[in-house]
Amino acid sequence: MELDSIILGGGPGGYSTAIRLGQNGKKALVIEENKIGGECLNYGCIPSKAIIELADAISYLKEMPGVSSSVSIDMKKWQEWKWGMINKLTSGVEKLVTSYGGEVVKGKGIIENSNSIRVNNETFDAKSLVIATGSVPSKIKGIEDVFYNKDILDADHIPKSLVVIGGGYIGIELGTAFSKLGSEVTIVEMMPNILPGTDTDLSKFVERRMNTLGIKTFVGAKVEKVTKSGEFSVSLADGNVLKSELVLMTVGRQPNTQGFGLENINPEMEGKFIKTDKRKMTSVKGVYAVGDVSGQPMLAHKAFYDAEIASENISGKNSEVDYRAMPFVIYSDPEIVTTGSKTDKFNNIPLATNGRALGMNSNQGVFRIYVDNDYVIKGGAFVAPRASELISEISLAVEAGLTSKDLGMTVHPHPTLSEGAKEAAEATYGKSLHYKSSR
Ligand code: NAI
Repeated sequence: MELDSIILGGGPGGYSTAIRLGQNGKKALVIEENKIGGECLNYGCIPSKAIIELADAISYLKEMPGVSSSVSIDMKKWQEWKWGMINKLTSGVEKLVTSYGGEVVKGKGIIENSNSIRVNNETFDAKSLVIATGSVPSKIKGIEDVFYNKDILDADHIPKSLVVIGGGYIGIELGTAFSKLGSEVTIVEMMPNILPGTDTDLSKFVERRMNTLGIKTFVGAKVEKVTKSGEFSVSLADGNVLKSELVLMTVGRQPNTQGFGLENINPEMEGKFIKTDKRKMTSVKGVYAVGDVSGQPMLAHKAFYDAEIASENISGKNSEVDYRAMPFVIYSDPEIVTTGSKTDKFNNIPLATNGRALGMNSNQGVFRIYVDNDYVIKGGAFVAPRASELISEISLAVEAGLTSKDLGMTVHPHPTLSEGAKEAAEATYGKSLHYKSSR
């Protein structure tokens, strides 16, 4: 049977394109050189959130007034559990692909032309190709032997000390987790603030929490050199030398466009990314690109969305991406989430007014909903525990064109963190129940 599509890469972008195509009755083949599930399931989103859960569970008890506890962690056992959990997830995904009539081939795929890919000395032809090759960690020339996300998530022990180069998403998430697990953590960020790109009136809560945890941060700091003799020495441009057992490098990610024959079809690029139109088709007819390789933001849920749009177009429909309600989540402590767009019409609801949060021994954060002059919800920003679980309500409101009155009049269960969304909606028209704004 002729293939409808060959998908290069089995991460969230690739495997979900195959499942979506299968759901549309189309026959897809996924080529994956490493592990199905890609970076996200194996070495990124899933294991990093698992280690954050472990760290949070420990620090939650440790910091609860009146509780004395001592916990020891056997990382080898934890890693065994973690891989068991991941393997269930990845094998489940693979079974889903095949249950819809798709196929998975393990090996390195090389694009030959816009209809064929060679893998393991066999050439497969299809009506369309989907490039879903993801991204790889950025490196700094001359700095070797350091850990990247993949390595530290597989660590068999908690390092005594850890220097993290890069105070972005991964650096803050994993730096905080390892600090709670007992490492002495130092974060080096070259920009004037950690989490550059995030509003400082949101990131300040995380910064304060990191200070409380004893995480040291050097901002506006450039790493000149990293050497290793027994322990690592990280030399900064201002003369500081940081010593540590391990160094974690988290200075961004790059789209993966090398080594799989992209030059054989030569699609138009946009910076380092493969350029696509809103239908996720590249400049080469019939060749699509989804996920990290096809542009910012490099997020797994954006890859799922791209995949859905691309598979609809491959299936003969006409769909276009609309990223207007794209959630951004930093799994920091507290979590920072944003969605949609900002306006200057909002009122802050402090987390300290939320009874559920107080019962969780948490009072540092904020709920904010942005509306236009007609009170139509345009976006939101929450800083709170589990904020990642709360933001989709706001994305839905943006997608559906709801007003803050619609959200404010929706009964929310009490006591929940989700009441923060309701109160922030009410605050836009000056009637939040548990907080009287001075604005
Ligand atoms: P990032 O772009 O979030 O942060 C990298 C940081 O390193 C930036 O703050 C940058 O200023 C800094 N930096 C760059 N070069 C440096 C140098 N020489 N010295 C000191 N600092 C330097 O990248 P990160 O954290 O590596 O994550 C990569 C990507 O993975 C993210 O952009 C995101 O797309 C994705 N990701 C998403 C997550 C989520 O959604 N929660 C979690 C983890 C990763």
